[in-house]
Amino acid sequence: MKKIGILNGGGDCPGLNAVIRAVVRRGAQLSFQTLGIKWGWAGLLERDYEVLDLKSVSGILHRGGTILGTSRTNPFKDKDGGKRIKDNFSTLALHALVVVGGEDTLGVALKVHELGLPVVGIPKTIDNDLAGTDLTFGFDTAVSIATEAIDRLHTTAESHNRVIVVEVMGRGTGWIATFAGLAGGADVILIPEKPIKLDQVCELIARRHARGKDFSIVVVAEGAKIEGQETVKTSKRKDAFGHEQLGGIGQTLAREIESRCDFETRVTVLGHVQRGGGPTAFDRILATRFGVFATDMVDRGEFGKMAALRGNQIESIPLAEALQACKTVDPEIFKMAEVFFG
Ligand code: F6P
Repeated sequence: MKKIGILNGGGDCPGLNAVIRAVVRRGAQLSFQTLGIKWGWAGLLERDYEVLDLKSVSGILHRGGTILGTSRTNPFKDKDGGKRIKDNFSTLALHALVVVGGEDTLGVALKVHELGLPVVGIPKTIDNDLAGTDLTFGFDTAVSIATEAIDRLHTTAESHNRVIVVEVMGRGTGWIATFAGLAGGADVILIPEKPIKLDQVCELIARRHARGKDFSIVVVAEGAKIEGQETVKTSKRKDAFGHEQLGGIGQTLAREIESRCDFETRVTVLGHVQRGGGPTAFDRILATRFGVFATDMVDRGEFGKMAALRGNQIESIPLAEALQACKTVDPEIFKMAEVFFG
């Protein structure tokens, strides 16, 4: 029986268990035995794994998080990291490795492939910022959670005539902010792709008040920055891939709105709630399609590639293509969202 490994790295994301289940189930049909590598790349460095059979993946489709655990380990930070990965690959007698991740984890996957190892990628991130695929799984769930929060914030904002600033995740892009803002009927959406002009924000809120709407919802992506200022961070500590922890723009913005526009303002930071809990039906299906397709890629020997959603089809594209640049918010979609501002 050929052995395949599955590893997920980076932040957890609703749908990871659905992918793991799909790889194990399709793998069993193709006579592969699946080894679940624990804690991201750390597990491959340490040979920390468990054999996954049909029983281990039973009942996990709807569950959030990942049964494998995850980490932001970058094996190439260690001088001998590449060699250890190569050695463990052969010690475990892996026929191939399926890597589920965003740009950091898949960036490592590409380097591992360049060492001559058979790797297949699957795109995951709630941020939806990975190029080459129309969508990543996890995004739809994060948008649904943020939308529900915006719906709830509407009723309390309205009852108190307040401005409520909702800070959502997304790192360097405003996909979650744009989609949740659109779905939730936000009055202003602020994203990293467009520096925040405070005068404009106040003008939009004032325009709304002038037409008799005494409350407003402002959705801001954690990576958005006020024109001429730095991104707001909760900590300067960097992870193994050089990312600082974003957060705090909601508070800064609320202070500015209150002092410049004189509207009572409150802030809600959604944070990790956006990543927690079970995936939506859409994400369960997308993750399952990616998992089955990636296992078929292994069977076909299509390595150094990633399963990607193009239109309504899953296709395989070179990993390098997905890692070329970060996928920022489509300006056309944002322009459309602006129709509803103010
Ligand atoms: O990439 C997913 C994400 O949730 C980002 O939106 C966010 O900036 C980051 O991860 C938070 O990371 P951590 O899990 O380290 O708090």
